[in-house]
Amino acid sequence: MADELDDVTDETSESSEARIAVHWREEGYYPPPAKFTAQANASDPAIREQFTEDKFPDCFTAYADLLTWFKPWDTVLDTSNAPFWKWFSGGELNASYNCVDRHLETHPNKAALIWVPEPENEVHQAITYRELYVRVNEFAAVLKELGLKAGDRITLHLPMVPELPVAMLAAARLGIVHSQVFAGFSGTAAGHRIADSGSTVLVTMDGYYRSGEVLDHKVKADEAVEAAAREGQQVDKVLVFRRYPGRYSAKTPMVEGRDVFVDDLLAAHRGEIVEPARLQATDPLFLMYTSGTTGRPKGCQHSIGGYLAYVAGTSKYYQDIHPDDTYWCLADIGWITGHSYIVYGPLALGTTSVIYEGTPNYPDAARPWRIAHQLGVNIFHTSPTTIRMLRKVSPDGPKEFDIHFKHMTTVGEPIEPEVWRWYFEKVGKAEAVIVDTWWQTETGGFLGSTLPGIDPMKPGSCGPGALGILPAILDEDGTELPAGSGKAGNIVIRNPWPGVFQTIWGQPERFVSTYYAKYNTDPKSTDWRDWPYFAGDGAVQAADGYFRILGRVDDVINVAGHRLGTKELESAALTVNEVAEAAAVPVVDDIRGRVVEIYVSLKPGFDPSPEIEAKVSGAIVTDIGKIARPKNIWIVPDMPKTRSGKIMRRVIAATSNFTDTGDITTLANPEVVDRIREQVQSAKRAKGEAPRELSETEQHEIKSFGSE
Ligand code: WTA
Repeated sequence: MADELDDVTDETSESSEARIAVHWREEGYYPPPAKFTAQANASDPAIREQFTEDKFPDCFTAYADLLTWFKPWDTVLDTSNAPFWKWFSGGELNASYNCVDRHLETHPNKAALIWVPEPENEVHQAITYRELYVRVNEFAAVLKELGLKAGDRITLHLPMVPELPVAMLAAARLGIVHSQVFAGFSGTAAGHRIADSGSTVLVTMDGYYRSGEVLDHKVKADEAVEAAAREGQQVDKVLVFRRYPGRYSAKTPMVEGRDVFVDDLLAAHRGEIVEPARLQATDPLFLMYTSGTTGRPKGCQHSIGGYLAYVAGTSKYYQDIHPDDTYWCLADIGWITGHSYIVYGPLALGTTSVIYEGTPNYPDAARPWRIAHQLGVNIFHTSPTTIRMLRKVSPDGPKEFDIHFKHMTTVGEPIEPEVWRWYFEKVGKAEAVIVDTWWQTETGGFLGSTLPGIDPMKPGSCGPGALGILPAILDEDGTELPAGSGKAGNIVIRNPWPGVFQTIWGQPERFVSTYYAKYNTDPKSTDWRDWPYFAGDGAVQAADGYFRILGRVDDVINVAGHRLGTKELESAALTVNEVAEAAAVPVVDDIRGRVVEIYVSLKPGFDPSPEIEAKVSGAIVTDIGKIARPKNIWIVPDMPKTRSGKIMRRVIAATSNFTDTGDITTLANPEVVDRIREQVQSAKRAKGEAPRELSETEQHEIKSFGSE
């Protein structure tokens, strides 16, 4: 082992991703349970032959055919303005029609959504397709009355309540582009996104339950409107749904003329029907903001036709959704997972999708199993963070319950093999197949996963590319690293696919430079082969073709499956008057995967104090939200910097994680490294934050963290 570590250290010091030759430990295979395969939507390996490279792009019409089109497309893939791909151009459809109206013919009275409130004494609500149709139409009538029309943007800042999918589908009905901001984000964060998207309407809720308490959510709307105004964006209307219609659950007053209760507005539109607009397949459906290397979040713009086709197709073959399934994705609709695999994919297929309002461990860690049992859930989907938490709190929990999943998903972060095995054995009772799905906000749907009825599972690896997806691992120079080389590199997708986002809202140059410029050699080319999609993840491909995702290669920290940009965190810290410099780094955490630690240095004349630490923490919570609250704030005398003055985040990341700092010969001030290490590590030891041995994946991320 010692030799191996030395090896790793030597090679890391050369700092190129591709040279990090780690001896990846191989895990054994688990075949899909035969009972699962017998009923799977994809059970014949021949399905892959329909999606080979020579059949691209036409192979994806199989996904588009799952939808109802008002007018069929003229061109499957138009590459004339590469890399702004146009899928199914000339085609016309409506996402709301596809997720709601068309199911009225076959199963109007089947539950589309089952909403589970957090308080256990409140009964769950089953909303049939018929009822969903009524609600979507009525809310669409409200939006229309406000003068909103196709192409306008509205921001939603809604919690996990049925009003959220209703609002999304109502907007989609009219071609209004929705931008849902995760409810856990602060008002200020919502405000930035309102301003960036140019929304004039904010849809929110007075309050909702989280860990047994009703949070005042309306207060965030006031902050959001103010923050947007500071950036020059005026919000004309704030539509406030009430958690209990007719009864106001927030303490924050309504603002006369601007704020309106939705239940009051709806009263004037009872039973109204709004025809679904005929929209172009290439029109935008929604924006979903995510973090990147700069402080400005990226509004990923998804299309109607390509996106909906891709999430419907992957829901069918990878989530294995059948009409009679009860499907529960325990994630938040405020993230891409919820958009694609709680709302659009499952509803396009006409299934029953469960929505849970609260925290998974409220009032105890058996809550998910009680819900699953009560509702007869047979497909279960969640994140490694939730799985780790449930495992820690109640390792034998699922045993007590008569629950039988046929299929389970993990998404959003790498899952450790021992956690995977717990999920498989204890939650799935060795009867359920697992898909470890690798993808991103930008990609709309799954990119890497095993086909559940066909491919053996391998803990810790997502599997091969999804149907029609051609991934490869490239080194910095664009040379492909063959499967089994043992070398990590940048994972790219060699071809476009229907779910890929169309652009970054308002930042088309950033779209090209972040995702396509790296490996493009001819910016004028209209051949898709010249435009590999750069995902920003490090990965290694085993000899069997399976990919193991190692985490971000940009300045992004994945906290409990949520992407936080170091620049956003640092800008928030820099709003504190005493702070001169700030650097955010990831620290390995047994439950949340990673947590954030912030290093700050102070302006001359200020001394470190707990008050300054509290201010930094407060600034981050205000600007971003509680999920970003740092675990520790270290006030240090100076930051390790390169001669050009850039903070070397990987050096402080190594300090916080008790790993080797690697090569520091390029530092302008190498002496500061020992001082910081002494300060931080002794303080951590005193707090009982003892170092533990890091896994290969964790080591890889910490050692290569931050661009240099
Ligand atoms: C990471 C979430 C390992 C990855 C759908 C990616 C994963 C980022 C996996 C996207 C997985 C996602 N295994 N890592 N199965 N899935 N990631 O945009 O670093 O919130 O780039 O989309 O999460 O996060 P996002």
